[in-house]
Amino acid sequence: MAWPRTGQEKNPIMAIDWPALRAAAQAAARSAYAPYSRLRVGAAGQVQGNGETGGDRIVVGCNVENASYGLTLCAECGLVSALHATGGGSLVAVSVVAADGAPLVPCGRCRQLLLEAGGGDLLVDTADGPVELKVLLPAAFTDTDLAARREQP
Ligand code: THU
Repeated sequence: MAWPRTGQEKNPIMAIDWPALRAAAQAAARSAYAPYSRLRVGAAGQVQGNGETGGDRIVVGCNVENASYGLTLCAECGLVSALHATGGGSLVAVSVVAADGAPLVPCGRCRQLLLEAGGGDLLVDTADGPVELKVLLPAAFTDTDLAARREQP
């Protein structure tokens, strides 16, 4: 398969407009509240709507820090909240950038969050082109593990 991937491969119905996604992420980064790290982050996700409560759209989030540092919310947390708050669906492509507009790869916790919102085929923007989330988060813990391993009452 050609590299970098375009996003067309995952779902031929939905072409991914990566420049538009990055621009939406950069715009969100301008709204970030990051007085402690001074790293403003924006995230934008292309959503494939579920056809019932929400349609195809772009959702965004920004990081929100706190004087109690550990309470910081990453931009991806806001993005996933916006996904659900605006009708749900599935993420098919995500771009996370700093205020300068250049890609940042999601932190480990956010890879796990994104996995539940988009699955392993979710395309993540990087400086080298889109990469599938399953490559960034191999051998992930999922709800399958929960179902298989939880104790019975
Ligand atoms: N940050 C994000 O928003 N997303 C990530 O995936 C990595 C880190 C934020 C959290 C914090 O406000 C700042 O970047 C510095 O770590």
